[in-house]
Amino acid sequence: MQTDTPVEVRIHDLARGGAGVGRLSTGEIIFVPFTAPGDLVRVRVVERKKSYVHGELIEVLEASPERVVAPCPAFGRCGGCSWQHIPYPLQFETKVKGLHSALARAGVQSPSVPLDLLPAGEPYHYRNRIQIRGNPSTREAGFYRPGSHSLVPVSECAIADPKINSALGKLLEEGFSRFTEPFKLEISKKPDGGIRADWNERHAATGFQQINDRQNRLLQEWVKTHAGTGDLLLDLYGGNGNLSLPLIADFKRIVCVDSSATEEEAPAPHFSFVRKSIQAWSGTDDANEPAGPAVALLDPPREGIGELFPKLEARLSALGVSRVILVGCDVDAFARDTSRFISARYRLARLGALDLFPQTPHLESLALFLK
Ligand SMILES: C[S@@+](CC[C@H](N)C(=O)[O-])C[C@H]1O[C@@H](n2cnc3c(N)ncnc32)[C@H](O)[C@@H]1O
Repeated sequence: MQTDTPVEVRIHDLARGGAGVGRLSTGEIIFVPFTAPGDLVRVRVVERKKSYVHGELIEVLEASPERVVAPCPAFGRCGGCSWQHIPYPLQFETKVKGLHSALARAGVQSPSVPLDLLPAGEPYHYRNRIQIRGNPSTREAGFYRPGSHSLVPVSECAIADPKINSALGKLLEEGFSRFTEPFKLEISKKPDGGIRADWNERHAATGFQQINDRQNRLLQEWVKTHAGTGDLLLDLYGGNGNLSLPLIADFKRIVCVDSSATEEEAPAPHFSFVRKSIQAWSGTDDANEPAGPAVALLDPPREGIGELFPKLEARLSALGVSRVILVGCDVDAFARDTSRFISARYRLARLGALDLFPQTPHLESLALFLK
């Protein structure tokens, strides 16, 4: 088959990566972004792998009854959302199935483990930060197309907080008069509800911050419920203490370790920020440090703990950690780290599926391990 010959295909499933799934007459599985289960579509094959192909949607010939109308006029062109045409309950169901299948692929038996389902109460208007590009010579502003640096013009963002959308027009006018070259504007809603603008700064100018306030509160509650109380709490990959600050009254000592924490002052005498990589922290050997019982929160970036696991786990063991909470924003990396904990003789006691990113296939996965 020529890769550019259009073909018709019926979509029968939704993959956890976001694309609709169909089967070609050759028997090959095809993944087609922006399609829904039940659609009959005309597609172009754009890439052929060993056991499946990637397709590009040309036209929906028969729309699935599952489809919903995407509220954003830039949907399908902007790189931000890939699921506005999928009803929210099916989005969340697909994410949960994806978590189980990622765990199964990593050799973890999850169906019998208690699982807390934490879907989003508000599937739109949740982002507390956006980055938008503006071009003073064309007076156009927008987001990048997927995999490119060409702009999709927008006047608002359907997943951004309404306060950000209200501030957008005026801030862009300011950018068009302030700059002569294309600029980047990051708009954040601050915890006090005010708006902050950063011009041409690196990504996340104010340090890492969870982008969904409402779901972040559920994340903090889940962590608080399962962390318990005790002598020592380690908040590793802890950022500005988002997960450990709500536990300040529950532990005698809290250590929050992050390579780029921006917080300067400790909020209490028994709380300390350590600006260090987890690699360096894991290699620290302080014989005077009391050994447990301790609790560890681990919230690594997308790549997970990975190869660092043996060194980090040895340090956790030396400190008497008997309870670990793992938070992961990439299900495959999370599943591999879960498998590593089980191999290190931790019991997987509980799982959670928390949706921080509606309208996208991403899921925040949670695990409680006991030793
Ligand atoms: C997913 S964020 C979690 C932050 C925090 N737990 C929260 O809820 O806001 C991951 C954090 O890991 C930090 N980080 C990434 N790689 C690191 C490393 N090798 N050592 C220490 N911190 C790291 C980043 O700076 C970021 O703050």
